[in-house]
Amino acid sequence: MRNINQLLKIITVLSDGQLHSGEAIGAILGMSRSAINKYVKTLRSLGIHLTSVPNRGYQLSQRISLLDEKKIAVQCNIFNPKRFYLIPIIDSTNQFLLNRIEQLDSATVCVAEYQYNGRGRRGRSWFSPFGTNLYFSMYWKFAAGPLAVTGLSLVVGIAIAKVLRQLSGKAITVKWPNDLYLDDKKLAGILVDMVGRSGDDLHVVIGVGINLMMQLSTPEVIDQKWIKLGNIDRNQLVAKLISSLSDTLVEFEQKGLVNFINEWNELDNFINRPIKLIIGDETIYGISQGINEQGAILLQQEEGCIKPYIGGEISLRAND
Ligand code: BTN
Repeated sequence: MRNINQLLKIITVLSDGQLHSGEAIGAILGMSRSAINKYVKTLRSLGIHLTSVPNRGYQLSQRISLLDEKKIAVQCNIFNPKRFYLIPIIDSTNQFLLNRIEQLDSATVCVAEYQYNGRGRRGRSWFSPFGTNLYFSMYWKFAAGPLAVTGLSLVVGIAIAKVLRQLSGKAITVKWPNDLYLDDKKLAGILVDMVGRSGDDLHVVIGVGINLMMQLSTPEVIDQKWIKLGNIDRNQLVAKLISSLSDTLVEFEQKGLVNFINEWNELDNFINRPIKLIIGDETIYGISQGINEQGAILLQQEEGCIKPYIGGEISLRAND
């Protein structure tokens, strides 16, 4: 990887979306035109869409507004710089927190512009191009065993859906058990990593990847129907996620999932719709009836019988 500070400076120059000549960029950074050329290749390898206009210079295909700790701090009522890491280029924000778990306080956050080893669920990777989406992780310590976190990913989904609705005005929904949806397509995914540390406490890193402005030149890097939210202020988004997730996790610790069931059912993308649930080799069909107090999905099957299921992945029956 080339010098990251220089890379970020070039991105900052280009971030206005205007055309900038190689000479002009070189003069600002104290680099030759050929050195700028090499950096431009690196920028492309990070997923940044950049046009070269012969003899005139370089231009981003869309503006990038970089994450900025100061802008996040002024918009977040509980911001604490000791619990905040903005690492522009990282392997994975979840992994960063997991590697430091012994030293962290609850509500420590890591955000990045680019992940070179972004992780999804079930061993999948999470495509993480530079500056266009959001990659966000928060650490939380639960002072009790695994039962204390039953339904955790569901309440995280609710908190994120509410923030995204507030900022975009769009009808974002939740998909059991770990996704956010818009127009029946995946908008964001949640990855919860749990670790036993010393004592009885349960240590959790909650990771969220949200599609905002991603442009794909190779659509096959994502193997399902996806959608992006569009241009929203990412600094404001981070600020609101920090406060909303912290408030939600405190409430969840005190009152459990039961307090969130109605909210889930109101935001549920699949409620009252025919779905199929795949658990291992088994496929189960039914009409979704929301969730129960254990976070299980309730499926109405033949003769109106409603059964709870934990685990597996759901999809719309119509998508068969
Ligand atoms: C999924 O839907 O498969 C879950 C995707 C989770 C992606 C986020 S991006 C921030 C955090 N860091 C990671 O490596 N993964 C999560």
